[in-house]
Amino acid sequence: MRTALMNYIRAGYSGIYVISSEETRFEAEAKSVAEELGHALLAWSATDGLVNTADGSVRDCRDPLDVLQIIGELPESSVVLLRDFHLFLEDPDPFLLRLMRDALRVGKTSGRVLIVCGCRLILPPELEHDMVTLEFSLPGRDALGVILDGIAESAELDKTTGDLREQLLDAASGLSSVEAEDAFALSVVETAGLSAVVVAREKARAVKKNGLLEICPTPGSLEDIGGLDLLKAWLNQRHSAFGAAAAEYGLPSPKGLMIIGIPGTGKSLTAKATAGVFELPLLKLDAGRLYGSLVGQSESNLRSAIQTIEAISPCVLWIDEIEKMFSGSKSSGSTDGGTASRVFGTFLSWMQDKTAPVFVVATANDVSQLPPELLRKGRFDEIFFVDLPDVDERSAIWGIQVRKYGRDPGLLSIDSLVTGSDGFTGSEIEQAFVDSLYVAFAGSREPTDEDVTHALSSTVPLSRLMADQLDGLRRWAQGRTRPATTPNTSQPKRRLQY
Ligand SMILES: Nc1ncnc2c1ncn2[C@@H]1O[C@H](COP(=O)(O)OP(=O)(O)OP(=O)(O)O)[C@@H](O)[C@H]1O
Ligand SMILES: [Mg+2]
Repeated sequence: MRTALMNYIRAGYSGIYVISSEETRFEAEAKSVAEELGHALLAWSATDGLVNTADGSVRDCRDPLDVLQIIGELPESSVVLLRDFHLFLEDPDPFLLRLMRDALRVGKTSGRVLIVCGCRLILPPELEHDMVTLEFSLPGRDALGVILDGIAESAELDKTTGDLREQLLDAASGLSSVEAEDAFALSVVETAGLSAVVVAREKARAVKKNGLLEICPTPGSLEDIGGLDLLKAWLNQRHSAFGAAAAEYGLPSPKGLMIIGIPGTGKSLTAKATAGVFELPLLKLDAGRLYGSLVGQSESNLRSAIQTIEAISPCVLWIDEIEKMFSGSKSSGSTDGGTASRVFGTFLSWMQDKTAPVFVVATANDVSQLPPELLRKGRFDEIFFVDLPDVDERSAIWGIQVRKYGRDPGLLSIDSLVTGSDGFTGSEIEQAFVDSLYVAFAGSREPTDEDVTHALSSTVPLSRLMADQLDGLRRWAQGRTRPATTPNTSQPKRRLQY
């Protein structure tokens, strides 16, 4: 970022739009760049007017129109920081736009640079070609280390070193400098020391504020999943391909995995387990929220979520119901001014170009909404299709579920439950067992085979309710995806044979 900013100024760009919510940290960077280039730095705000940062002298021009009119009077080689100016560009006065374009033109010939720093990109089409945009990334480990040392010093604590330091920096990555400082300080107040647990907890809160991202506190394990042998084997194989040794060997960093299947078959479970297998933090992106109440903000929300994800990386990013991210992109333009298509484009190009070690696990159950571009080879390393569990898988799922609720599978006739749950998803098996627990609890006893069988027979599984859709999904999956389970050829009931 520093080099890019310096190069733009040296090359004579007169308008730079910096996307960052860290005004103070960016201003410090801009000041140091201006000093290095021998430029004067002036900072404007609607409250202070135009302040020369070198001597503190103030020019009283608090009106945004006034400051634009005096750009030509400033000394040559000046950098003008326009605070909060993006807000004036949201629904701009035509006069302001004209003045801005004039100021940018004057600036170009005289080395005067206008910098707008805003937390989101608001650039009207009239200015798109006159201003270059730059993203100011979140603080890296070195910058976080400086903040950490500052807090330790002011709390009169020893400088942190070794494992604790690494844990604290891991916990703080993805936070802005202000958020990191607050989290370190809070940890001192709460624990009289520096605690990575407190910082990680605060990060989970801070990340959630964006509305799109969430840190999942407990990654799952492959032990929680019954069946899906091919998918599990694939994950185990990729586990070692995601680290320093693999990079040294020359392997490209894995991009990600897409899991498609009907509801309740363990897709989310697998996404969570991936983070466990890779021993990385798990972030969840809520695709459905992308088109929140403020349509215009979806794009900047996504950009800022991507910044956070990259700062936290290496990590696993789970995008649940990814189809929702694209559901509007086909008709976009006529319905939402093209927001969905733009968001879709931003996401696809990130998937394509990302260099940060982020392993994406996307799950979907409605393939009709998925754009073909997303499924193209190279976007994901593999696309798996999860079908209804077969006999062996149901047996494993029953074992897992019965144990999960603190019961001994040996006390139930699992074989007959496996037969009775033909056509059931893992989630329906769990639900039937939970139903039988309620019945047994009401009778102050332990659940019996009869309770469970009764619960099964009173359930109409989704596979029966949605038989046609399921068939359609299987047909679609054939040839496009890899099965998550080794085909069980002794099972004539399975209609789809890979
Ligand atoms: N293969 C499985 N092994 C063990 N438990 C399973 C399996 N499949 C589903 N379950 C149980 O069902 C619950 C729901 O499954 P999960 O959330 O993974 O389904 P999903 O495929 O993501 O469904 P949806 O499409 O509705 O999001 C799990 O929490 C788990 O308890
Ligand atoms: Mg799910």
